[in-house]
Amino acid sequence: MSDWTAIEALPSPRLTELFEADPARLDTFSLDVAGLHFDWSKTHLTREAVAAFAALAKAKDLAGRRDAMFAGEHVNVTEDRPVEHTAERGEGNPESVSRARHYQARMRALIDAIEADAFGPVRHILHVGIGGSALGPDLIVDALGREADRYDVAIVSNVDGVALEDAFERFDPAATLLVIASKTFTTTETMLNANSAIAWMTEHDVDDPYGRVIALTASPEKAVEWGVDETRVLPFSEGVGGRYSLWSSIGFPAALALGWDRFEELLEGAAEMDRHFRLAALHENAPALAAFADLYYTQVRHAETRAPFAYDQRLRLLPSYLQQLEMESNGKSVTVDGQPVGRPTAAITWGGVGTDAQHAVFQLLHQGTHLVPVEFIAVIEAGDTLAEDHHRQLLLNAFAQGAALMKGKQVDDPARSYSGDRPSSTILLDMLDARTLGALIAFYEQRVFVNGILLGINSFDQFGVELGKEMAKAADQGGQEFDPSTTDLIRRAGLN
Ligand code: F6P
Repeated sequence: MSDWTAIEALPSPRLTELFEADPARLDTFSLDVAGLHFDWSKTHLTREAVAAFAALAKAKDLAGRRDAMFAGEHVNVTEDRPVEHTAERGEGNPESVSRARHYQARMRALIDAIEADAFGPVRHILHVGIGGSALGPDLIVDALGREADRYDVAIVSNVDGVALEDAFERFDPAATLLVIASKTFTTTETMLNANSAIAWMTEHDVDDPYGRVIALTASPEKAVEWGVDETRVLPFSEGVGGRYSLWSSIGFPAALALGWDRFEELLEGAAEMDRHFRLAALHENAPALAAFADLYYTQVRHAETRAPFAYDQRLRLLPSYLQQLEMESNGKSVTVDGQPVGRPTAAITWGGVGTDAQHAVFQLLHQGTHLVPVEFIAVIEAGDTLAEDHHRQLLLNAFAQGAALMKGKQVDDPARSYSGDRPSSTILLDMLDARTLGALIAFYEQRVFVNGILLGINSFDQFGVELGKEMAKAADQGGQEFDPSTTDLIRRAGLN
């Protein structure tokens, strides 16, 4: 009997029947943690399902693996590294935490220096980085930066020069700080963008452009080699994975845009979620329950995707942030021991912003043939100051969509009927501030971790991104034999 037998045998009653059968259902499947309210009552999770997943968690030693991660053991086995992003928020082994604190002190000192005009007047922050070196800071600055209005921040990731030119057009080169964010300090796109930004400053007669560069990296020696003065290199630990790095010096533009105190609140919010994850029993543990629902849909109901929708404009970048976090972490085919995993791993994460998405993709969610677990993320306190109609409409729409997905509607005309029984979960924040956003992101990280452990995979490597990069590099150097189709495309674009 496999560890999954009891889970695969779980019955699939309709959601409305689950509510009818259990008057306490809402209480059982909702939870309040760190200013976030979670509601999984409109998913097919049952007490029986939670018990079956808890048994699986025991068999997979979830508690042991979790403690090993926080203790700094090398749980990233394929890269033989610890997983240290929680140490950035003070939750980890003392050595990792104290190293993180030391690096944060450097970061803070540099922010103080910028604020004290050590670089002359600075209005613009041009941050170049990609993947985890861009998505996290971008999310934080976009969600919380507009309130602070301290610096104009552009986060440029795409190697398409149009992205960089857009920033050049907005920015005054003499009032710009160039921030190069790269864990490895070798990523082609980032280094090309960095070189072009230096050329732009030089063309505009900026005195000593390299003197206006700040490097955020786990490879400080490479940054120095590239031309950044050691005093302006903000290191972070190798054990902090790229997609988990916004808490480290990679969060520098966020700390600058929000101010240090709010950056610390972000870390504290995340730490509060970490403590909840470590200490709460599984049946009232938010990341664990969310992961159980994920796994119920991927393993039992064969859902291939999941779709978070941010019903808050400030969180519009959350779905793309989650795509990297979830798909780069758990989009794997082999177990930690290198064996075929033998079952579906991460669902494809896609999603969008409400209410826009209702007028675009919700048709498929309500009447399409795919089962898509939907997640609504909304905030009680409005982000806008307009008459309350806007926020009222926003929230009512989010809640009504969840109700409609579950309830459905049967009429004589099949084209106008809705099958219902379509699952959704809701995360409702009291307010969106640094603390709750920190807790929200940490929740997603730990949920990914639980998924990974129960699937038996390593969530912390990403070898799948290498092959395409290698082939592009080889093609650039003329050393790659391609198939006829690719050869033809290269020829047509005049690249050979
Ligand atoms: O392409 C994948 C990846 O390695 C991500 O995991 C990472 O966040 C991104 O590239 C950027 O890497 P770096 O920070 O080293 O430039």
